[in-house]
Amino acid sequence: MSPTPVLSSCVPFPIEERTLIDVTQKAKDWAIMHGAAMRSKANFSPDALNFAPFILTPSSFPRKEFEKAKELQTIINQLMHNVAHDEEFLTTTLAETIKVDEFTSNLFNVYKKVLANGFGQAYSLGLLRSDYLAHILEDNSIKQVEINTVASSFGGISTHMLPLQSFVMVELGHADKLKNMPENTALSGLCGGMIKAWEVYGARKSVILFIIEDVSYNICDQRFHEFYIREQRPEIKVIRRTLTEVHKEGKLGPNKELFLGEYEVAVIYFRAGYEPDHYPTQDEWDARYMMECSRAIKCPSIHYHLAGTKKVQQALAQPEMLERFISDPEKIKAIGQIFTGLYSLDDSEVGNASYEMALKEPEKFVLKPQREGGGNNVYGVDIPDALRKMSRVERAAWILMDLIQPPISQGYMIRPGGKSPPEIVDLVSELGIFGVILGDVDNVICNYQAGHMLRTKLSTANEGGVAAGLGALDSPYLLD
Ligand SMILES: Nc1ncnc2c1ncn2[C@@H]1O[C@H](COP(=O)(O)OP(=O)(O)O)[C@@H](O)[C@H]1O
Ligand SMILES: [Mg+2]
Repeated sequence: MSPTPVLSSCVPFPIEERTLIDVTQKAKDWAIMHGAAMRSKANFSPDALNFAPFILTPSSFPRKEFEKAKELQTIINQLMHNVAHDEEFLTTTLAETIKVDEFTSNLFNVYKKVLANGFGQAYSLGLLRSDYLAHILEDNSIKQVEINTVASSFGGISTHMLPLQSFVMVELGHADKLKNMPENTALSGLCGGMIKAWEVYGARKSVILFIIEDVSYNICDQRFHEFYIREQRPEIKVIRRTLTEVHKEGKLGPNKELFLGEYEVAVIYFRAGYEPDHYPTQDEWDARYMMECSRAIKCPSIHYHLAGTKKVQQALAQPEMLERFISDPEKIKAIGQIFTGLYSLDDSEVGNASYEMALKEPEKFVLKPQREGGGNNVYGVDIPDALRKMSRVERAAWILMDLIQPPISQGYMIRPGGKSPPEIVDLVSELGIFGVILGDVDNVICNYQAGHMLRTKLSTANEGGVAAGLGALDSPYLLD
């Protein structure tokens, strides 16, 4: 294999040691002082923050591909909206998966029960994030890694990465380069969607409910949303509850209003509920069901959640499938080009052929279960063992995907407790584009692209989860 190409960097590296030490310390303080921060997992305290891991200078990303990703977002929003409202498609696509994947099956049961009982609310709010890697084998054109329809995070902190890295660039004497760092409207865009949904709900005293985990390490990202909403619209209160608390406190009113104590809930924003661990008992599933039946506008509603599964992503990448959801041939072509090979592993002729293909050349693939939140995939040489341990039927819980090979960039990854001075390292960046869509099956009230995030990992790591400690927040430096 030929060596991976290295993108040219925004400033000459390495940075002289004295300057590097000074600017790194300033940047850490800037990050903490502006909330580019997280709670420590190792030394948890609700009273303290660490800066969030970040890349000192913006990482290079091809401008043309960045612009393309942004332009495609409204089409992707509409696609996901249409998929979420296609009961037949969701049912057939997930039929094999739910036989073996308990979590997806539980989500699907909630969906079926709500269908039978009647939706309390026709409108859904999608705060989506479509993730991409540039692919060196196709001239660095972007390929979609996944689409997130639930708890699409980092819109808040990412908005603060541009000013953080702009500060660093100016400190380093490169103010002239700021023009290649695109503005980011993620926070205002995402919050704008929640505010619009609150207005559509139309009850002056109602609140926005954030569904949270027992402990929120990524607290600043969530608080940025909460504080922004309050600042823009002082009359809107945000409350935070776990699924367990909703089960204890929640009840439905005569018109399916969701009440939590004295509060009527207009919008439910799920920052938890995407992992099996978030549902330790049946109570949490009952709470989810109650919320899905309610008149509150969900972000995401259960059908949107299902539309974001890896299995659905795989099904959408099959030939002619997009035609079911998009009518404009130009748009179908454009979306088709960002898909990379995605293969079913169901117990069928096609699925068994993908199984054989993965055993033969595992280094070309990634194996993915129906999970979110990072750390669940199997890569390359580990795939055959993982597959052989599964029964034919169990394989249906997984999908296979072509490995995307991104170009490398260089930079300094700054982590709490990291070395001083930091070392220059090889990095790989994943771009996320946020999208907002609000509507019911027939009407879309708003559909827009809402800024971006860049998450960068060591080139040697398979995954770059920021919370997991492998990745760092970043923002793009656009290369022509
Ligand atoms: N096809 C792929 N090629 C290369 N890396 C991938 C691919 N799919 C996923 N990854 C890596 O794995 C990470 C997690 O995979 P992803 O599909 O985003 O699942 P999750 O829902 O856990 O975030 C991605 O952020 C990316 O770094
Ligand atoms: Mg992901």
